[in-house]
Amino acid sequence: EKGTYPHYMLKEMDEQPTVIRKIIQAYEQGEDVTIDADILNAIAEADRLYIIAAGTSYHAGLIGKQYFEKIAKIPVEVHISSEFGYNMPLLSEKPLFIFISQSGETADSRQVLVKIKELGYKALTVTNVPGSTLSREADYTLLLHAGPEIAVASTKAYVAQVAVLAVAAYAVAKQKGITLDFDLKQELAIVANGIQAMVDSKDVMEQIAEDFLKIARNAFFIGRNMDFCVSLEGALKLKEISYIQAEGFAGGELKHGTIALIEEGTPVFALATQKDVALNIRGNVKEVVARGANACIIAMEGMEEEGDRLVIPRVHELLTPLVSVVPLQLISYYAALHRRCDVDKPRNLAKSVTVE
Ligand code: M6R
Repeated sequence: EKGTYPHYMLKEMDEQPTVIRKIIQAYEQGEDVTIDADILNAIAEADRLYIIAAGTSYHAGLIGKQYFEKIAKIPVEVHISSEFGYNMPLLSEKPLFIFISQSGETADSRQVLVKIKELGYKALTVTNVPGSTLSREADYTLLLHAGPEIAVASTKAYVAQVAVLAVAAYAVAKQKGITLDFDLKQELAIVANGIQAMVDSKDVMEQIAEDFLKIARNAFFIGRNMDFCVSLEGALKLKEISYIQAEGFAGGELKHGTIALIEEGTPVFALATQKDVALNIRGNVKEVVARGANACIIAMEGMEEEGDRLVIPRVHELLTPLVSVVPLQLISYYAALHRRCDVDKPRNLAKSVTVE
């Protein structure tokens, strides 16, 4: 039930700190977080992981790739399920398939699962719904523990997916004896507080929506590295609930064509949470501002500069997506409200897409 909340989406965004804490509890083992030994072994034995997902879950998969590669040192490919079904890449010798799906019912992903099972490969499903089709048909399941997600726009399931993928990659790294210089359980607790600070700043997000999106026809989201992955999710959120045409872009790619679309007043949301590329993304912001863009810079604490519109609390650099996505969700929500859109049930969309 949504109780006193006007929309499920708002309630579900507010639940995000709790979801992170639930994930810590669900996966904790003593001082650490980990996953079942059989899943650990299945991942550790694979020579390559193939992440298969759609929509927001695909965006979470892009972050998951970075976790498995950077933390656990396992190569990963991420595929859109509807494409994979018809255009299967050359597979490695010992692949493991990871299906990411909030509902566990997405037809495009189910078709891929059927196909790879026919080929005799193993699969792990990361889902919010125990007993869902993708969970039942896979060999292993990792649960998101996000609680039912009712709003069509996925919010808390995305942060849950990213967090659970981080736990899995971290656990595999430990199993493989890789030395890690951070304690994920502690870092996730810091993330929960960071998300809390963001959901407690709704008035700020509402004002940003008003200042940047009130009369916008289109919008751009840019970022580099992990911020690029979050930009894709920010753009999808805005499109699906406010119907403002939006695109997420790698900061460096913008100048290879898309910058032609920047006009006087075009909103550009730029994420600056990644230290190595902070200067580069700020350079990209200058490029669009010089062409008239209305730039909203969202920077991480410690990296902020004068004129930045929002500072997000400092968290471990690999975990920034968990916090930076939240203002983008809230900004989309308020942009949709300003336009009197049906936030929980956007036009043309269903919560779970069970047709091909
Ligand atoms: O249930 P799933 O995670 O498999 O759903 C995949 C997409 O249909 C879903 O993420 C969709 O993109 C959302 N409406 C995004 O908010």
